[in-house]
Amino acid sequence: MCGIIGYTGKKQAKQIILEGLAALEYRGYDSAGLCVRGTDNKFNTVKCGGRVSELAAAADMVDLTGTCGIGHTRWATHGGPTKENAHPHTSESLILVHNGIIDNCLDLRRMLTEEGYVFLSETDTEAVAHLLDREYRACGDPAEAIFRTIRLLNGSFALAIMFKDRPGEIWATRRDNPLIVASAEDGSYLASDIPALLHHSRDICRPEEGVAVCVRADSITVTTPDGKSAPAKLERIDWNVGTADKEGFAHFMLKEIHEQPDAVRRCASHRVNAAGLPDFTVDGIDPSFWTSFDSIAIISCGSATHAGLVGRYLIESLAGIPVTVNTASEYRYDPPATVGHTLALAISQSGETADTLAGLRLAKSNGLLSAAIINVFGSAIAREADHVMYTNAGPEIAVATTKGYSTQVAILALMAAQIAYARGKMTAEAAAEYCRGLVNDVPAAISAIIARRDEIKALSAKIYNNSDLYFIGRGPDCPAGTECSLKMKEISYIHSEAYAAGELKHGTLSLIEQNIPVIALATDKRYYDKMTGNIREVRARGGYVLLACEPDFAHPEEFSDDSFILPAVPAVFSPLVSVVFAQILAYEAALIRGCDVDHPRNLAKSVTVE
Ligand code: F6R
Repeated sequence: MCGIIGYTGKKQAKQIILEGLAALEYRGYDSAGLCVRGTDNKFNTVKCGGRVSELAAAADMVDLTGTCGIGHTRWATHGGPTKENAHPHTSESLILVHNGIIDNCLDLRRMLTEEGYVFLSETDTEAVAHLLDREYRACGDPAEAIFRTIRLLNGSFALAIMFKDRPGEIWATRRDNPLIVASAEDGSYLASDIPALLHHSRDICRPEEGVAVCVRADSITVTTPDGKSAPAKLERIDWNVGTADKEGFAHFMLKEIHEQPDAVRRCASHRVNAAGLPDFTVDGIDPSFWTSFDSIAIISCGSATHAGLVGRYLIESLAGIPVTVNTASEYRYDPPATVGHTLALAISQSGETADTLAGLRLAKSNGLLSAAIINVFGSAIAREADHVMYTNAGPEIAVATTKGYSTQVAILALMAAQIAYARGKMTAEAAAEYCRGLVNDVPAAISAIIARRDEIKALSAKIYNNSDLYFIGRGPDCPAGTECSLKMKEISYIHSEAYAAGELKHGTLSLIEQNIPVIALATDKRYYDKMTGNIREVRARGGYVLLACEPDFAHPEEFSDDSFILPAVPAVFSPLVSVVFAQILAYEAALIRGCDVDHPRNLAKSVTVE
């Protein structure tokens, strides 16, 4: 992950770099640094362990006058989040910032140390700096030195480099990690993503992998490994970044929780036609597509996988076709066997997750048809999938996903109806009724839960002081529980697991003792009897049961220590509703525990390393 930025032009670089790093902070926020080339041609560098705001404060203490510079915000891979390990990293002839991970860095460090290079940090990046220095000093040409260097690197990288003897220039290259360059009246820019640049320029270029890019104030040149150079081909960006403002909410996460009713409605209604039926022609997907495959292989990570688990439940139960849900980091090396025509379906909010991208590429190279559910417009996975369904949730800034997840589930829910309808497994009337529920009833139910925040806050006060808790459920509540549980652990740091309720007694029940919280989700009346049995098993061992159930669950007070009555929606949609209860429960517990809700420790929003 990590975010990189660079500017060379007429304006002062420092402020541009600091603002760019603030926009890129979702990619990593454990340390940061920047370097501005001074008027005397010296590299003036400031680094710190901590956030970009701390870097800005440190940068105010130093003279950083100059119009050419690079910056970095870090998510640590090699070496802790210290000032020494923060980027940029230097060697004799250059300074650079790096997003990515170098797999053979130990071998490189050994080789370069033997050659006399001295390492001042524990990072893989410093090995790249020294290696590039060695090659630059050997050949004297930046592009050639970059090609020689990256041939020796295993791993992924986006690099921005300033060479000491090339004032006004920033050189860049990439493999498997994003890099955008942009041209404007006042100069040229580079960054890890488009939104960090959009308020400076709409004329951007996404360099191909393995090229060397030279960014000057008035030109951007791309050199290919065969030595041919040409001006960068710029494309005009005509879309806007939504607001990245908290708009009065205490946290981005809270704001994004509140945005869910509109986001789900917008995402679903966009794909319902005048007859009230699911219709993906807005995504350029022909109706015949939905009968063109025999099974689906979902490829995803984290919450997107949890959305995939809900999707599998819906697609298998409505359309009757097999769906596998594959953790992308495993799929990319060990894809399961497929039978007949399989649709590879990548799910990713950011559209950048390295493992998901690699999984999609592998599926395509194995001849699978592909599609993707993506939030970030124009992202790598969106560009590589055969078909893209955008969730249009708007920018998600909080590291823990909320509206990103809900809109992924909304698209999967519509896909389930579309596949069922196209294959004659669902009548037009049933499909239209289903779409009405998704577009109207689900957003209303989500709003109703958000309006009961105080009630949920009181419940969070009962569980916040525990170090472990469990979510249990059956049917649709089983996949729903996985996401509820992840929300709890990632933002409140309470260890949490999700179980099929019937599975507890096969081992995990041994962990249930006095007052251990078990949050029982019960939204499908087919399983109420079985759920009450499982709840009794927990209470018999002294567990504290918080029951989140639908209004038709008889006498919840008899089966629980506390209960929360969820608004009624058809059971197939309940994962879209119960998760909002869990999001708010986790949010409130995290607040009481004093956690940094929008920036949980050790995490980053966009995971571009393996
Ligand atoms: C958890 C969360 C992560 C992401 C995962 C995949 O709240 O946000 O688990 O879901 O890192 O990210 P994307 O969807 O961008 O591929």
